[in-house]
Amino acid sequence: MAMTRQALPIVCLFCQLSACLGAVVPDVVSTVTISSRQSLNAALEAGPNRRMGFLSEANFLSMHTVLSKKVEPVYFTDKEELYKAVTSENVLAALISGVPNKTMFSAFSSDLVSPRAFQMMPGSASDDLMHAVDAAVVRTHNGGDLVRVAEANHPFEVTEVHTCRSLEPAKVPFPDASTATGLLKDILDKKRLRVLAYGTPANKPDWKQDGNYEVDPPVGFWPEYMVAFMAEFRAAYGNDIQLERVWMTAGGTDMVLNGSIHMTEPYYIYESLHDGSLKKWSHKFSCIVMGYEQQFFSKRHAKVITDAVTSDAQCAAALKTCEDKRLMSRITSREELNSKIESGGNVKMGFLSQANFLSVQSMLSTKVEPVIFLSTGQLYEAVVNGSVRAALISGVPDRTNFTVFSTDVISPRAFQTMPGDRSVDLLRALDAVIVRTHNAGELLAAATANPPFQAVEVHTCRADNPSAVPFPAASTATGLLKDILDNKKLRVLASGTPGNYPNWAQDGNYQATPMTGFWPDYMGFFMARFRAEYGSDIVLERVWQTGTAGTEMVLNGTVHMTEPYYIYESLYKDQPKKWSHEFSCVVMGYQQNFFALKPAMDFTAAGPTCDYQLAACQGNTAQISAACSHQATFLLAGAVGLLLAMEGLLH
Ligand SMILES: *[C@@H]1O[C@H](CO)[C@@H](O)[C@H](O)[C@H]1NC(C)=O
Ligand SMILES: *[C@@H]1O[C@H](CO)[C@@H](O)[C@H](O)[C@H]1NC(C)=O
Ligand SMILES: *[C@@H]1O[C@H](CO)[C@@H](O)[C@H](O)[C@H]1NC(C)=O
Ligand SMILES: *[C@@H]1O[C@H](CO)[C@@H](O)[C@H](O)[C@H]1NC(C)=O
Ligand SMILES: *[C@@H]1O[C@H](CO)[C@@H](O)[C@H](O)[C@H]1NC(C)=O
Repeated sequence: MAMTRQALPIVCLFCQLSACLGAVVPDVVSTVTISSRQSLNAALEAGPNRRMGFLSEANFLSMHTVLSKKVEPVYFTDKEELYKAVTSENVLAALISGVPNKTMFSAFSSDLVSPRAFQMMPGSASDDLMHAVDAAVVRTHNGGDLVRVAEANHPFEVTEVHTCRSLEPAKVPFPDASTATGLLKDILDKKRLRVLAYGTPANKPDWKQDGNYEVDPPVGFWPEYMVAFMAEFRAAYGNDIQLERVWMTAGGTDMVLNGSIHMTEPYYIYESLHDGSLKKWSHKFSCIVMGYEQQFFSKRHAKVITDAVTSDAQCAAALKTCEDKRLMSRITSREELNSKIESGGNVKMGFLSQANFLSVQSMLSTKVEPVIFLSTGQLYEAVVNGSVRAALISGVPDRTNFTVFSTDVISPRAFQTMPGDRSVDLLRALDAVIVRTHNAGELLAAATANPPFQAVEVHTCRADNPSAVPFPAASTATGLLKDILDNKKLRVLASGTPGNYPNWAQDGNYQATPMTGFWPDYMGFFMARFRAEYGSDIVLERVWQTGTAGTEMVLNGTVHMTEPYYIYESLYKDQPKKWSHEFSCVVMGYQQNFFALKPAMDFTAAGPTCDYQLAACQGNTAQISAACSHQATFLLAGAVGLLLAMEGLLH
């Protein structure tokens, strides 16, 4: 509906402009605002300015894998200096923790997510508690608690990372209280759940919107999430169960690892090291609760209005007002979409299936009314004609005519293996390769080589120095890894049949020789590192299967592992895969995008004077005629002029 009003005048404008546009080129210097990591990397590649600002080398090291190798980091000791350097364009872009001021800066995703989960001791004593916590996490996700709590704590921003997901929570049941064992039994017997909290009793943290524990009750995202979590836990096990925070800044992890504290708060970092090696190898993790997605920011270029003929201040002001109004109607984030839908007007959104809608429903306003379309073409059309406010597609819609913004829902992908002792060495070898491919920027290389593919880097493992994640020695390898090294063959489950390989375009075309696309390229990087460690004679053998037999072969070890693209969050035999499979470090995440109509913002091509530009902005054809009449010099028509006008209107 928003568009019906705009589209008609714009169409008419073309007829007018074709009669009005002249050969005079508007005197406008346009400097483009960097508004995505892709355009940042393109600018870094192109130079000459390749500087980016960071507050520490550690910050840079945590992000370098998603940036062009040509980046030149510059370190600042203070945030104000960093802001100044961005404003003066001494640096192209910068990173701070948290959310930069979006009025002053263009903020955009780094496509790098740091996931957070509850952490527990390894071993069977935590099995029942883990299932109970997973059950509660799935229910808080399904109930929309993440978005509700994030929105109540502005400017907190949440990304939902799905390692577990079920639309039917009954498939992720709480263990029975009567047969509970280990840590869960201890909690139910003593009616208290002890969680490790970061701080000291005398000095509790105040992380602002993330969590302020100095007040009683504590406020902010994490404490309020814990209220939602405890509501689910108590609904299953009794209203008399207390949450007891054990405040420690040192030594707490050891108490979690020996079970004297049941688990950590959900905000503890997943990807970090413990005692010099990956936490993934010493801890157990619940379903991921959420992820922090860092943002880069760059200078927001004000539009330069240059009136070559008249210098009508009144017109310039009116043009600015008109452009601001259009800017206001633009939807560029999920938060904006939700707030526009909450405040009325069109509440319809377009999807290609009900399943697509359900996969992001928890991140959307409850007022959204889904409309299912049969084709991508219709979906685009419905956004253009305004019958839906925004839409979702897999992949990357055309950014020329649409604003494209994240759903903030990430589907992570990892290699999957059988559980138990036999997969231990293989998983360590996989993790060693993954940390190295991440560190060397090979994920970025594989994505960049396959546009429009986009990968989000989800860090469940990270080491600035990969030697902290060593390969198991070949000579002492056991289980599946030994089998691979003995037979010189790594058998990988691939989705397809021998006569019918899949063609997923830029994601992976297995019909081509050699295979092309992101996943085959990633496996190329993967095998190069695996062979460098264990022998150049090791062959990758894809075992093509489409039914459940393939999964059974992975779970009994006759196939060593899956390709890395298999979905993490899904169910197997009506239970979360997390409970039946083992997973390598997350390789990457798919983030789906919403898109909405992009209002025209630059009217310089409508004509060299403010009159023309204002008329184009307002879609006011009468005014154009008036402008034409007093600017007779522009009465030069032609297809070139029309194209120019369209360009100006649509970009
Ligand atoms: C962001 O910057 C604008 C302009 O300087 C200022 O008015 C606004 O208060 C700032 N917002 C925040 C949240 O700091
Ligand atoms: C657990 O570890 C802590 C810290 O190292 C120690 O003080 C405590 O005695 C240990 N408890 C058990 C049950 O092993
Ligand atoms: C807009 O386009 C969609 C998809 O083709 C179509 O179903 C719908 O009827 C159109 N609505 C209007 C108002 O033109
Ligand atoms: C954008 O929309 C215009 C007008 O509808 C169309 O001609 C053009 O092909 C679209 N651009 C792309 C890249 O699809
Ligand atoms: C593993 O599972 C497959 C598929 O179900 C089956 O054909 C095979 O016999 C099993 N192998 C072993 C060793 O259990």
